[in-house]
This record gives sequence, C-alpha cells and structure tokens, in this order.
Amino acid sequence: MLNSYGFHLPTRIKIGTGILKEAGKLAAEITTGRRAFIVTDPGVKAAGIAGRVKSSLTDAGFDCYLYEEVKPNPKDKDCERGGKEARNFEADLIVAVGGGSVIDSAKAIALLQTFGGSLAAYEGRGTVPGALTPVIAIPTTAGTGSEVTRSAVINDTKRSIKISVKDIKLTPKLAVVDPETTYTLPVGLTASTGMDALIHAIEAYTCRKANPFSDAMALAAMEKLYPALPVVVDNGSNKAARTDMMIGSVMAGIAFSHADVGAVHCLAEAVGGLYDTAHGIANSIFLPSVTAFNAEAAPVRHARAASACGLDITNLRPEEASRRLAQELAHISSEIGIPKFSELEKINPQDFEYLAEISEQNGSSESNCRSIRKNDYLKILQDCYNN
Ligand SMILES: [Fe+2]
Repeated sequence: MLNSYGFHLPTRIKIGTGILKEAGKLAAEITTGRRAFIVTDPGVKAAGIAGRVKSSLTDAGFDCYLYEEVKPNPKDKDCERGGKEARNFEADLIVAVGGGSVIDSAKAIALLQTFGGSLAAYEGRGTVPGALTPVIAIPTTAGTGSEVTRSAVINDTKRSIKISVKDIKLTPKLAVVDPETTYTLPVGLTASTGMDALIHAIEAYTCRKANPFSDAMALAAMEKLYPALPVVVDNGSNKAARTDMMIGSVMAGIAFSHADVGAVHCLAEAVGGLYDTAHGIANSIFLPSVTAFNAEAAPVRHARAASACGLDITNLRPEEASRRLAQELAHISSEIGIPKFSELEKINPQDFEYLAEISEQNGSSESNCRSIRKNDYLKILQDCYNN
C-alpha cells in the first residue's frame, strides 16, 4: 500500500555566481509593490552583502528599510519588533539577507506584520491564517536550507525554548542563491553551518517521513556536501567547493522540508533554547551518537547514506557500514573543529533531565527512524558529555 505524500515547493530558486546583483530585478518580478523591508544581522551588514542587496533593490525602484536586529538563535521579541516596524513601513516585501537565523526571522516578521500578535500564538503546524507579505531569501551561509522551507524556528524568550511555526505559507517566494556570499564566511561558521546542511540531508533520508522525492534530494545533497565540507573549512576561497556546499544546502533544505528532521535536531533545539548554543554546533555534537543509536533501526538506509557520502563500504554488511558512517561523522566533526559538548559554555549536567524532556516533546521526535524516548535522549546527552 502506498502512503500519501506530496511535493510542493512554492519557492522559485535562482542560483548562480554573482547573481546577487540581480536581486532587485528578480524582486520586481514577484511583487508590484516597491517597499522592501530588508532583514539582516550586523555581521552580514559589516560584510557588505546587505548593502549590495539594498543597492540592487534601489536600482530596481524599491524604497528600502534595513532591520539588522537579528541575533543568533533568533528571539521572538526581535521578530515582534520587526513585525511592528515592517507594518509601520507598510512593507510590500520582506527580504532576508543572512543565515538561518535571519531567514527564519524574516518569515516570522512577515507573519507578524500581516497578522500581528505574539509569535507564540502561531506555534505549531498550519497555524498561519492566510497569505503573507512575500518573503525573498538570500542565504549567506551554506547550511540552513531555510530559503526553501516552510518553517521558522525562534527562541521563546519567556520559556527559554525554541518554538517552531510550520506552514507552507511561510515558504519564501524566491530564493536568490549566490555562492559568492559565502566566500568570506569565517571558518567556524563555515564548519558549523555546513554540518547543519549535512545533517538535514542525513535526517531527511533516514527519518520516518522520507519519501522518494525527498530521498532524491537528500542523497544528491550528501554527494555534494560530504566531500566539499572539509575542503571549504581548509580553504574558504575554493570556489568550486563553496558552490557545491551552496547547492547541497538548498537540496538538503528541500529534502527535510518534504520529509522531516529527527532526534539530532530535537536535541540541538533543546540545547540551543536553553544555552543559546549555535545551531550547527549543537547539531554536530549529537550527530554521531544519534546516528549510532538510529543505525540499528535502519541499517540499510544508513548504509546508503554512507555510500552517498562517498565512504568505501565495499564488503561491509549494512550494520557495519552504518557504524562506519557514525565513526566518520564523529571524525569529520572533530577534524573541522567542532567543540566537544563538555567544552561548551554554561552546560550543566543537572539540566539533562529537562533537556531530554524538551527533546522528546519536539514535534520532529516522532519522525526519528528509531523510536526515541526521554531516557534515550538522556543517555545520549550523558554519553556526549562524558566522551
Ligand atoms: Fe538545522
């Protein structure tokens, strides 16, 4: 029997080296309005990328407003403030220029500009009441995939947890993907965001909601990302590898938005919500242990993922190939400088019970390929901390 699934990608994707300068022309094709609210963060602004987008929009006849208040692990209050400023500006278009925090914030700002209220009121799936101010996403990291996804993950500052709003109406109308925007990305961010992209592909491929369409994107993403990641960490000016990372990241985003993520993201979001740990770093820390835990439940899928990553699994049984994948993920993570769990600031083992509980409550926990409960999360947290 065939379970139902679908493929719906409302995002027009334009990808190319140097395509950033066409952002204004492309924006003019998706709206007749000419008031663009640009969402970014201080780092992207300092790198000059937000300014280049603004120039392109201005040349195309847009009046622009720059909102640069986005922080890592984006905060609900900054989105709510942005929503009010976008409303006062009477924005016709929200333009996100940045990484996942910026793009997720832009989606939340579009939602709050259009419908008002507090972000927490929209937590969950299918909660967006109607069409939103259109969003254009211009990613400046090869990691998030948010430029093609329907979700925004934002920190609820009152509860110190991350909340997700998932709705097809949040999906950007246009993604302008220019590998050049990543050429000057610092090495630490290159590593952590790149691992995030790889994890999107692995979790999309191995989770319970995987389907043949998401599989195709996830496998192709792994083929691009796994070999390119150590190269861009070693040499950020390798343009071919930067391009592979950008393409792989978009593919991984399409994959997980049509399947789901799994336990790695559940743990990372719990830890990020409590400690403000960077998303890609938290993800990377838990990936090897979760992969080892999951491989028992889906060895053939994990073996196929190992193969897509380019690992030599000749003559290995699926169980052995899965273990090899978990080992190699731990190896690549340490090679590219991801810190250990115990080295992170503020980590307190007394919080682990709470973190395990929050992880279990995450909506994506049920998508994990192996049934995972609070005690399993607790054991993974403890193992990662002690090793
Ligand atoms: Fe992620």
